[in-house]
Amino acid sequence: MSGIIFFKTVNLAKIREFYEGRLGLKLWKDQGKCLIFAHGSLKLGFCEGQASETGGIITFVYDSPAEVDASYARFEKIATGKPEISEYYKIYHFWARDFEGRSLEFQCFIEPEKKGTEKAEISILNPDKAKPKLLLTRMIPENAVDQLKQVFEVHANTEPRNLSKAELLQHIPQMDGLLCLLGDTIDRELLDAAPKLRVISNYAVGYNNIDIDYAKSKNIAVCNTPGVLTESTADLAWALIMAASRRIVESDKFVRRGEFVGWEPLLFLGQDLHHRTLGILGLGRIGEAVGKRATGFGMKILYHSRTEKSPSYEATRVDLETLLKESDILSIHAPLTDKTRHLIGKKELAMMKETAVLINTGRGAIVDEKELIKALQEKRIFAAGFDVYEHEPQIPQELLDLENVVVLPHIGSASFATRAAMGEMAAENAIAIVKGEKPKSRIV
Ligand code: NAP
Ligand code: GLV
Ligand code: GLV
Repeated sequence: MSGIIFFKTVNLAKIREFYEGRLGLKLWKDQGKCLIFAHGSLKLGFCEGQASETGGIITFVYDSPAEVDASYARFEKIATGKPEISEYYKIYHFWARDFEGRSLEFQCFIEPEKKGTEKAEISILNPDKAKPKLLLTRMIPENAVDQLKQVFEVHANTEPRNLSKAELLQHIPQMDGLLCLLGDTIDRELLDAAPKLRVISNYAVGYNNIDIDYAKSKNIAVCNTPGVLTESTADLAWALIMAASRRIVESDKFVRRGEFVGWEPLLFLGQDLHHRTLGILGLGRIGEAVGKRATGFGMKILYHSRTEKSPSYEATRVDLETLLKESDILSIHAPLTDKTRHLIGKKELAMMKETAVLINTGRGAIVDEKELIKALQEKRIFAAGFDVYEHEPQIPQELLDLENVVVLPHIGSASFATRAAMGEMAAENAIAIVKGEKPKSRIV
């Protein structure tokens, strides 16, 4: 059975912002005075009318409790209950209300035996007892999986979600190798449960998700994927720089809402980039590539790093205070370490220009997110662009409510070619360690 439930509304623009922006529903049809959203087989229509209808219940059905949880995380502020399992209905659900007062029900029907505990389908892709075992925590491009299969018996999580801590703990004891994501926390508890583990190959350049010192103390090699993702991540940093400075996303939403009625002298005024000052926090591989792109815009380039660098273009090393005070665009490219956690806090944000734009494609926790939200709300800086968040994947609703931010789901390296190259490098790293060879990039 399929159909469309229609509601009348007096506030089509807000409905759109809510259902598309906050709930993440896809716009299925835009008929001007009527918007139809799709969410799986559920279709919801909202038509402009005299009186809005606020009755009724809209039910969103998900495939797994994890998706209900993810939805809850987005709707925590308006949720009217916590996710819970009802024995009677065998559903896992919570309730919320949309801004017109309709009840929204988010639920997942669960199999009785699956209640509360999820077990990922870990598949042995190439059963072969003679080979060392590798846990692949999430499917990566096929070329890399094929490489891994030649050397390892690959135990792969084939589900489209990350493994929980419990699931990692369950599978790690038998493993000789681990190929993991930046969202997998590889801490003491996990390493203590891994007596056979020889290599952790991170499918990322950043490795703040791994307890490096503890791995080292246990003689477990840790590898990462530097270099191959530099240019793609620099491209994305620039996409954010341009989008936040020139209000691209806000303007796009405006046009789609049907509000563009002609050229206007004061419509969506933003910040210029050309001939202004770019400040780079952390002039490493990616920071340098971001600076190189800025030379095409005739920008002046400042940077702050612990050591002097010699990029292929003119750039001046300054202390953090000068960087903050003089930059029109501040782009963060340092790694997350004990030294960089909350390096940009209340005091530092107060040093920035009112016209400044802050871009973070490094790691969320380098910036004190609460303080940054305040600075943006109070318009103490002009705008911000984020690819990373302090408590990823959680993003505070206050941040999503702001117009002067652009938010991306950590896609810095997400091009077809780069993700394949990262896969190759991560596979080669793991293979080199078990073969006793020198990997391309080893951290400890
Ligand atoms: P990199 O070459 O090691 O560059 C990092 C730079 O940061 C280094 O040159 C380092 O220079 C500087 N740095 C370190 N500690 C610092 C501090 N306390 N203050 C100021 N500067 C400091 O690494 P990369 O390949 O460019 O990657 C950088 C980071 O980007 C990664 O760690 C990762 O977190 C992030 N990343 C994100 C994405 C994404 O998808 N958004 C993709 C790739 C990478 P000094 O040692 O001289 O200080
Ligand atoms: C991505 O954030 C990475 O560190 O590779
Ligand atoms: C704008 O389109 C202009 O011609 O200035």
